[in-house]
Parts: sequence; structure tokens; C-alpha cells
Amino acid sequence: MSFAELWRELEPLGRDPGTGGYRRYSWTAADAQCRAWFTRHAERLGLAVEPDNNGNLWAWWGNARENAIVTGSHLDSVPDGGGYDGALGVASALAAVEILKDKNFYPERALALALFTEEEGARFRVPCLGSRLMTGAIDPETARGLTGDDGVTLAAAMAAAGADASLLGPREDLLESMAAFVELHVEQGRGLAPMGAALGLAEGIWPHGRWRLVFSGRADHAGTARFADRNDPMLPYASTVLAARRVAAEHGALATFGKVIAEPGGANGVSSAVIAWLDARAPDEEALADTVAEVRSAAEFSCAEHGVALSVRPESYTPVVRFDQGLRDWIAGVLEAAGVKAPVLPTGAGHDAGVLAARLPTAMLFVRNPTGVSHSPAELADLADCEAGVRALALILEDLAR
Ligand code: HGY
Ligand code: MN
Ligand code: MN
Repeated sequence: MSFAELWRELEPLGRDPGTGGYRRYSWTAADAQCRAWFTRHAERLGLAVEPDNNGNLWAWWGNARENAIVTGSHLDSVPDGGGYDGALGVASALAAVEILKDKNFYPERALALALFTEEEGARFRVPCLGSRLMTGAIDPETARGLTGDDGVTLAAAMAAAGADASLLGPREDLLESMAAFVELHVEQGRGLAPMGAALGLAEGIWPHGRWRLVFSGRADHAGTARFADRNDPMLPYASTVLAARRVAAEHGALATFGKVIAEPGGANGVSSAVIAWLDARAPDEEALADTVAEVRSAAEFSCAEHGVALSVRPESYTPVVRFDQGLRDWIAGVLEAAGVKAPVLPTGAGHDAGVLAARLPTAMLFVRNPTGVSHSPAELADLADCEAGVRALALILEDLAR
């Protein structure tokens, strides 16, 4: 099957008919459909598909399980996410293996495809959960208790899907069996288009994190409570959103509140509480720490003004990632020999490759996103660029696994 045929099958899975965006949340029916699709094609290609203890799926080519070259990505999405984020890397990995099989290539080294669970953290709030569990970056007990907005824990969601959360935990054996991990991913941001490049290589990932802020006020009647008597949490929340934008700009960082819940949520009441999630990212860890600290003090100042209590809880943090220069240069050489110039560029987007970079040589291959838009139904990549990415990934895997 060609990439285009694979893509046509994957595209409708988990897509919201109204918005055209994706709602592929881990351990839901959409996730099960995506896993079944991946398993069907990996097995069609003769790969041995094995779930690991953390909810990730592995498809092995050959019997060896050491010194493996691994590629893959994720199929879960943000709410109303785009169709390429994660999915492009998974479909391209399958298509690249098909190219190698069609030319009767046989890997001297083990070669595997990895499908990581909960990369977006859209349901259980910790991004790259599957790769963090595998590398020991999150405590299994903490992970089991993570809940989504519906109050369902990861353990319960896994049990409902037939997976056993009591087995969650680090996998030194798997990590030791991996020599390198290469993740193909749609570009997020618009760096390649101005350079006229279809493909790019990742230099590193900005440090970034998510913080959960709870503004606790006092519920009251919207039409009778005097302003002087109110402890309205919406007001410090609003000024904190504006402060985040101002402070981030001052530090060359990026910050926003993309998710907010007003409780109890009555249109004719003063909220009792506002729960909001800050996503902040910066070119270096000092700028990020300063940004978050100043946003927090702005929130504290405004809360004091309005008699509102504040709690701030870090939900996830990813330190700066620098991808392996040797692996990147090697890949650049393989591509250059095939006439493909792939510029090197940084990114502010987190990836499983970023988590694995702490443990083994990893690289990322970006496919041009003409608009740069991501985490939106408008996310796209041209078919020709996607096919160029598949050909490049096949070349890379062939060279690394020979
Ligand atoms: O949020 C991110 O950076 C990634 O898309 N998980
Ligand atoms: Mn994403
Ligand atoms: Mn992604």
C-alpha cells in the first residue's frame, strides 16, 4: 500500500464530523480504532506487534531485540487537533517499512515501530505519558491516579480497555535494546516554507511545562451581589491571562491559557472558582522559570486585590532537549547523498523523541507545514511533502539498520 492509501484509511478515525478536528484521546474507542489500524498494517507487513506494560505498541521487524533502530510517534490528539500531528509519523513509518520490504531489504539490526500513548496529555494531563513511564520520568503510582476531566483515572481507563495499569513502570530492558530513535513529525510552526525546504531536522526542543492554577473565590448572585462584596475569581484569572502574554513577550517566551473551567458554571452567577492551565515555553530554562515566576506573582497580586485564594500546581515539565548531533549529522549526510537538503531548526513542541533523548540518541525529521498551524483542524501538509518524508525515512532506516 502507498502512503496515500494508508493515509486515506487513517484519516477518518477519531475525526469530529462537525469541526473536522480529531478527538483521539487515549484509552477511548477512537484510540482503540487507531491501535487496531496500526496493528493490522504492521502485521500485514510481517512485523510482530507487542503492547508494552505502559500502553505503548511496538511492531518488531526480525527476531533480534537488541541494538534496534526505532521509529514512530503517536496517534492521540489534542481536542479538535489536526490530522497530521503524530499520525504522520506513524503512517510514514509503516509506509517506509513497506518501501524497504518491496525492495527486499532485510535489516541486519533489529528495526521497530513504536506507537506511544498519551503523547498530548489531552486526557490525563501529562504529555508524553507513555515515553515518560518507559524512561522512569514519572512514578507509576502517580500515573495510575492521573484523572481526566471526567474524573476517570488512568488505571480505570486502561482496565476498561483491557490493559493492566498495575504493570506500569520503567523499561530499562527496552531502552537498552534501542540504539536510536528517529521520529518523523509534521512541522509545527512555519520554518521550512520560507526556506523552500520540504524536510527539516530538529536541533532541540524548548523547555516547556503546564501549570494548573485554581482561583478560589465566593459564589454569589450575578444580579444582586454588590461589586464591593464580591470575591470574583474570574477577575484575577483575566488579569493573569493578560500578564502571561506580557511577561512571556518580555522574556522571548511563549505562554497562554488554552484550557479554563469556571465553577459551578452558571451564566447568572459569580463563579466560586476558576481552574486554568498555563502552557509556558521559552528558549532556555532560566527564561522559562522567570516567565512562570512573574506570571505567578501577577496572579497573586490580583488575587489579593479581589480576596481570591490561589493555588498553583505544576502538572508537567520538560527540560531543554538537545538532540544527538552525531545522529543528526549522520541523517543529514544520508539525505544529502540523496540530494535532499534538510535545514536544522529548533522547536517549541514537545515530543516522545524529546523524552527518549535523555536516554538514547534520538533525532526528528520534520515535514513542511505550509501554514505552520498545528493543534487545529487547519493543520496540513502537502501529499508531495509527506511522500518525500516517507522516502527520506526509508533511506534513513535502511542506512541505520543495515
Ligand atoms: O504540546 C506539545 O508541545 C506537543 O504537541 N505534545
Ligand atoms: Mn501535538
Ligand atoms: Mn505530536
